[in-house]
Amino acid sequence: MSLPMATVTLEAVSKSFGTVPVVHELSCSIAQGELVALLGPSGCGKTTTLLMLAGIYRPSSGVLRFDARMVNDVPPRQRNIGMVFQSYALYPHLTVYENLAFPLRLQHQPRAVIAQKVTAMAALVQLQDLLQRKPAQLSGGQQQRVALGRALIKAPDVLLFDEPLSNLDTELRVQMRTEIKRLQQTLGITAVLVTHDQVEALSMADRILVLRAGRLQQLADPHTLYHQPANTFVARFIGSTPMNFVPVAVSTAPDTFHLVDTSWCFPVPRTVWTPGVQGSEGVAHFTLGIRPEDIPLQLSSGDQLLPATLTLLEPLGREVLLSVTCGPHALKVVVPAPCRLTPGTVVWLDLGHGPHHLFDSETGLAFASR
Ligand SMILES: Nc1ncnc2c1ncn2[C@@H]1O[C@H](COP(=O)(O)OP(=O)(O)OP(=O)(O)O)[C@@H](O)[C@H]1O
Ligand SMILES: [Mg+2]
Repeated sequence: MSLPMATVTLEAVSKSFGTVPVVHELSCSIAQGELVALLGPSGCGKTTTLLMLAGIYRPSSGVLRFDARMVNDVPPRQRNIGMVFQSYALYPHLTVYENLAFPLRLQHQPRAVIAQKVTAMAALVQLQDLLQRKPAQLSGGQQQRVALGRALIKAPDVLLFDEPLSNLDTELRVQMRTEIKRLQQTLGITAVLVTHDQVEALSMADRILVLRAGRLQQLADPHTLYHQPANTFVARFIGSTPMNFVPVAVSTAPDTFHLVDTSWCFPVPRTVWTPGVQGSEGVAHFTLGIRPEDIPLQLSSGDQLLPATLTLLEPLGREVLLSVTCGPHALKVVVPAPCRLTPGTVVWLDLGHGPHHLFDSETGLAFASR
């Protein structure tokens, strides 16, 4: 089964409701067959952006293209899109077969063609044995597959998902993630997935567009987002436990970081050193980012180790998340389970290990990307 494909391009697309701007000059280009996730906290404009792609909202300004064609004013029906929402919105009185057949009946396709397409789609989404059931007789995952099949059956150019997995339990969600990715790749269809779940975005998307208050923060593949976040917002949002941020100053001794309000110093790591780091005059201040999994922890003091007090232990299965304080600074550190330490214990942190991320302390922008 082959489907048509399209590139999707946003050129400085903005959307306001009344006088309230919600999406600000969003630009990106999604390749044919690519799955891009729109990721960001609640209210950042993800659904609004998706509904502009669907043709339900019209952009206030900017240009939206499917391939070279500008689609700003093209109504939803003429865009050839498939949509899967959080609530699957299946027709409860229709069987699985009829739910799958519905978009084809709207197109007045011949009965024999419909039968053949429904059979093929049922096989693809593994619903062959359930075609005579009604939605209420299906599990959440099966209903989800019906919704997916119904979106795919009319061979859409672009598939749009809005939090399609958030109603499912953890096991089913993991299973459906793989399933959707498999189908999307098999069919080579261009897809946009809206989610506020970074794990979902990281595991499914070719690239992720991180949105904050309607503004693009970074558009990159999962590896780049994790290893080279463009700013502190992305750094905090991506990763199973948020990145630690501490204020540092370049001390009068060259190439040395000083953790503000402590006596701790260490050489500026080569990975973050650029001539600009030293500042032109006086002391330059930065925000140093280190992920909880990148801070080795020792039980005795050592050269350039930072003493800290353990305040809380949170078992996460394979690992334990520790909260520690060091003077005015609070940090999170991940250690392998089991961890026999108790709150109040003094531990020693190797903040010099890294990788380190350096940010402008005022703008939050990654130093390298300034
Ligand atoms: N039709 C509308 N009229 C006025 N304001 C709206 C409308 N739709 C959305 N908004 C506002 O626009 C902002 C973005 O909403 P949107 O639904 O795009 O967020 P979201 O990123 O999808 O959030 P969530 O993760 O909660 O679904 C919100 O502040 C919302 O209140
Ligand atoms: Mg939404």
